[in-house]
Amino acid sequence: MRKKLVLALLAVAAVAIVIAGFGAARLYYVASRPDLEVRPADWDWPAGISEEGADRLAAGVLAEMSLEEKVFEMSGQGMSRMIATIILKGYRAVVYAGGNERLKVPPLAFADGPRGIGFAPRATSFPVALARAATWDIDLERQVGEVMGREARAAGVNYFAGLSVNLLRHPSWGRAQESYGEDPWLTGEMGLALMRAVQRHNVMVCAKHFALNSIENSRYDVDVTLSERALREVYLPHFKKLVDGGVESIMSAYNKIRGEYCGHSEELLTTILRQEWGFRGFVSSDWVEGLHDGAQGIRAGMDLEMPSPVHYGERVAEYLDDGLISEGDVDRMVARILRTKILWASREDSEVYSPELLAHPEHAALAREVAEAGAVLLQNGGGVLPFERGAVRRLAVLGELATADNTGDRGSSNVAAPYVVAPLAGLAAHLGDGVEILHADGRDLEKARRHAEAADAVVLVAGFRHGEEGEYIDDDGVSPLSEAEKKSPWTFEGGDRYPLGLKARDLELIDAVAGANERLAVVLIAGSAVTMEDWRQRVPAILLAWYPGMEGGTALARLLFGEVSPSGKLPLTIPRDVAELPFFDPYAREIEYGIYHGYTLFDKEGREAPFPFGFGLSYTTFAFDNLQVLAPVVAPGGTLEVTVDVTNTGARAGAEVAQLYVGFEASAVDRPVKLLRDFAKVDLAPGETRTVALTVPTGELRWYDPEAKQWRLEEMEYGVLVGPSSRPADLLRASFRVAGE
Ligand code: BGC
Repeated sequence: MRKKLVLALLAVAAVAIVIAGFGAARLYYVASRPDLEVRPADWDWPAGISEEGADRLAAGVLAEMSLEEKVFEMSGQGMSRMIATIILKGYRAVVYAGGNERLKVPPLAFADGPRGIGFAPRATSFPVALARAATWDIDLERQVGEVMGREARAAGVNYFAGLSVNLLRHPSWGRAQESYGEDPWLTGEMGLALMRAVQRHNVMVCAKHFALNSIENSRYDVDVTLSERALREVYLPHFKKLVDGGVESIMSAYNKIRGEYCGHSEELLTTILRQEWGFRGFVSSDWVEGLHDGAQGIRAGMDLEMPSPVHYGERVAEYLDDGLISEGDVDRMVARILRTKILWASREDSEVYSPELLAHPEHAALAREVAEAGAVLLQNGGGVLPFERGAVRRLAVLGELATADNTGDRGSSNVAAPYVVAPLAGLAAHLGDGVEILHADGRDLEKARRHAEAADAVVLVAGFRHGEEGEYIDDDGVSPLSEAEKKSPWTFEGGDRYPLGLKARDLELIDAVAGANERLAVVLIAGSAVTMEDWRQRVPAILLAWYPGMEGGTALARLLFGEVSPSGKLPLTIPRDVAELPFFDPYAREIEYGIYHGYTLFDKEGREAPFPFGFGLSYTTFAFDNLQVLAPVVAPGGTLEVTVDVTNTGARAGAEVAQLYVGFEASAVDRPVKLLRDFAKVDLAPGETRTVALTVPTGELRWYDPEAKQWRLEEMEYGVLVGPSSRPADLLRASFRVAGE
């Protein structure tokens, strides 16, 4: 009896060893398979194929394909490769989808973003997208896109999901850092700059997540309802801008819209995207949970299931047999993917993309420049900043985050930076041996206070890290993570950050140190807004650095010691309290999005935020005057043109952002008080004045009439409000009229 038991146990153990052996061998096999070729020239298509040509050629390829080959184009083959490379190589490798050597069809080679190339052994880790939005510098974002395009190609990537343009409806949103903030206009302009620059390097950009994905914890299920006006005027315009600009792919969102998963929504994926907007690229699902019913996805217009065939693959034949879809549906989807890839393969490369480009020092230098341009100086009591180098022999650098490798979320937007300059390291390197650095992580509050008293100046680094905000995965998406889940390496902690104040560890440190040294700067590291009313009056200076990327510490040192003046402006509103914002619940199953959030909500309710949208100080001062409206009457179809003089009235060089808002107070319908419609960032030497020209095509002034299902331009008087922030008192005012001949 005993012998039998031992034999049985041995047999079970042997089977387990064999299975584990097979598993390990398969893992190794998958991880070590060579990368595929993603140079257009290798796929042997003639150069410069036109859109119509691509349609014809795609139809030709399609006619040659078996059903199995078509189905292969409709899904990624990537999950096991991704997991295997994480385990065996320590980074996420490119994930492939489709590809057919016989018919010269290249594969899609996917990587995530948006702070760099996520699926590569190493890459430049830029400041997060929200920090880049805070630069309000379109040209800088274009340069970031150029680098991302180059690094994508150097990593063997031709399909880049590094453009998240969901709107920051509420700053508690866990993935706020991946977005460009609360405003559709700023989001669209920044997104367009990035997208065009990346696509210039023959990388198909995938803009995500279409649509309404602005809550993280319940993202897989939350049902978003909203009026047609909120959808068209607030949540979709930036997607439309990208489609008009030629974005080649769109990723749908996990959440539901009006009771239906976005991945199944014919209204979103076909009616709006293709029929109304004329999108000619292909739609991908968000990963794993983006589709729940393959036939429904296919009927709605979901072309590609990522990252592996679960609802598509072999099941497509069943859907056909059951009459749930037609072969015409499959052909339409595959044709869209094929035409996009043929166009890609017919473009000539403008450059050679060698692996040395990955995290190249010049790219890291750009990351530093962006971190400098995006940091927002929120408060600078008594002009305490910049610290004077010669006056600081001892610097106290306080807080746990001062030494943290803290570039943001560790979910899909994670980037394998070859190094990260933490704040303390950046300051120490910048100041050199002559300056003594006193560091305390803040756990010993007495020590922190002693350091603050003993130093000539204090930098207190507070805020968050990836465990506290960011992408979030759990089993059900509707309840908080269990302790076991939190410990698992496969669980992304993070999630929504609600409410918005600092953690106790930071509040205690601020309490302990405030008053100990009048040269105190609080540096906030965060991927979204932080409420500060409980402590901000007790500290002189606050610099919001966001997650400033791999060169963040260097940038910070240069900002604090005045090598460069802060010039970032808030891409979101920072309220006194979350109660001032729209309703938010990280575990909401249902939620309604309205027309108003952020500055439009504050405007509408006649309230002022302590730190309004568009706000940010500098070490110098600026004056706006001489606002001129070039023509007081603009015909429908015409363009409003204005100029304004911006002068640097201080003693240091700096950059200011001229922001143009259009006012709708005369409207016959319920509209925002004002909306951002143009902006320009200008560098100004002390005493220098520049005349800045700003324009708005009248098409951008329309509202969506849900009854008529049409955009309408009101012929009426519009306000022209120009200044350095959205705060009413900061704005010069004029007006113009839209009127027909
Ligand atoms: C995220 C996407 C991402 C994808 C692949 C999803 O969970 O929502 O933004 O592109 O994973 O990593």
